[in-house]
Amino acid sequence: MRVNVEIQGDPMGKPKIFVTRPIPGNALSELKAHFDVELRETESIISKEEIIAGVKGKDGLLCILTDPVDAEVMDANKNLKIISNYGVGYDKVDVEAATKRGIIVTNTPGALTETTADLAVGMMIAAARRIVESDKFTRECKFEGWGPSMMLGIDVYGKTLGIVGLGRIGKAVAQRAAKGFSMKIIYNDPKVQADFDAEYGAKWVELDTLMKESDFISIHVPLTPKTRKMFGEKQFHMMKKTAVLVNTSRGAVVDQTALGKALKTHRIYAAALDVYEDEPRSPVELIPLPNVILLPHIGSASLETRAAMANLAVKSLMDYFKGATPENVVNKDVLNKK
Ligand code: DGY
Repeated sequence: MRVNVEIQGDPMGKPKIFVTRPIPGNALSELKAHFDVELRETESIISKEEIIAGVKGKDGLLCILTDPVDAEVMDANKNLKIISNYGVGYDKVDVEAATKRGIIVTNTPGALTETTADLAVGMMIAAARRIVESDKFTRECKFEGWGPSMMLGIDVYGKTLGIVGLGRIGKAVAQRAAKGFSMKIIYNDPKVQADFDAEYGAKWVELDTLMKESDFISIHVPLTPKTRKMFGEKQFHMMKKTAVLVNTSRGAVVDQTALGKALKTHRIYAAALDVYEDEPRSPVELIPLPNVILLPHIGSASLETRAAMANLAVKSLMDYFKGATPENVVNKDVLNKK
């Protein structure tokens, strides 16, 4: 990425940006060419105290989706103008507090859609066909030859997939499932999407219906007060005993304790999770269970996608300090305040 910019900032020099974590690709070099950048070089989760210290005297913040950016962080620096969130999910940023203070918040949608959808479909197949368990079995030298009843799973092809949240990623999962695996698609979303229905033979249903009728359920909702623990004991009891739950969105939309119970008692067949209720805490209650696949939040973790996310996050800062409106502003209300 090379951008020609006339950066507007402090007449005393280039705008100052705090970056909480190294990010892949060349975007950081680009950022450094145009801004006065302080990069926290460490590959560990940043504490709130460190963010507060880091944003002092800065015009912009480039943070990652795990960084707690709340009112206290914003009040530590009255000059903060923009928070560029590296990630599509921005539930760790207090957007309301930012809007009140006239701070723009941006995210990186689009860049990670296909990569995350690939993983969700992979997880679905891995859980259905017991791929992770079978790998472990083979490594433990338990494979003593082909057997008619060995490692039996369930089919994916032709089954019913319930998508909860038909946004970019939900749609990309549904497309793969409908076109690649001839799956029947049902979905729950705030709106009926007639064009999508026509193209993929998909159908909007109530959430309860989706829970009851799906063979696979893939979750693609953002974490909000409304979606927190949206999937709990009641929902797991509605599911087919042969159903699989896949979550690549945010862990806290699922009641992890209730899910553990449903898996342990074989109330549902399996689950595949990429995200957890209280990251980075390990999901200790799920670890002993063989019918759950546990991944370390790698939905967007491909070289290409992580670099594309970095480009988008940096472009938001470039655009803003050029005097243009960044493409992916999540708190559009703030623009009217300017
Ligand atoms: C995001 O961008 O919110 C994803 O969770 C990253 O994998």
